[in-house]
Amino acid sequence: MNVTISPLTIDLHDAVIGLWQQCEGVGLSEADSLEGIESYLERNPGMSFVATIDGAVVGALLAGHDGRRGYIHHLGVHPDHRRKGLGRLLVERCLAVLGAAGIRKCHLFIFNDNEGGIAFWKSLGWTHRSDIRVASRMIESGAKGGP
Ligand SMILES: CC(C)(COP(=O)(O)OP(=O)(O)OC[C@H]1O[C@@H](n2cnc3c(N)ncnc32)[C@H](O)[C@@H]1OP(=O)(O)O)[C@@H](O)C(=O)NCCC(=O)NCCS
Repeated sequence: MNVTISPLTIDLHDAVIGLWQQCEGVGLSEADSLEGIESYLERNPGMSFVATIDGAVVGALLAGHDGRRGYIHHLGVHPDHRRKGLGRLLVERCLAVLGAAGIRKCHLFIFNDNEGGIAFWKSLGWTHRSDIRVASRMIESGAKGGP
């Protein structure tokens, strides 16, 4: 198996979205549009990666940092290529780049019912946080700030 790990570039958007759509447990949203991913990659260059075999995208990880903590937003490996170490390789590359940027802790979000995903992260040494609850809300576009 000849696997290449390389930076996720915007020309791969269609291939990567197509892959993530085949990965149960990857929650896609409007933030994953072409414009959304392009903007994210511009803010976080060289921190997201794809795994390719003979030019075909079989794994993809979206990650970056806010200057304080790292965040892995999506990770998916094609069902035909799982349990071959690709997920681990993608995460290792990402953490190496985040570490080189001075980031000392990385977070990720995972659905409670994603047993395979939870087992994967645990096997890589990630700690489940039962002391934290994630809260979110939408922001209207064009919302006015004010004094
Ligand atoms: C989770 C996922 C990315 C793992 O990718 P992968 O390439 O199969 O993972 P690896 O081969 O690198 O696995 C490394 C180790 O993780 C553990 N692991 C991986 N998948 C597992 C599963 N489904 N059940 C239990 N343990 C698992 C194993 O210990 C494995 O080592 P081993 O194969 O030597 O036993 C892949 O299953 C996937 O895309 N799932 C759907 C999307 C998803 O859940 N993404 C994560 C949510 S953020």
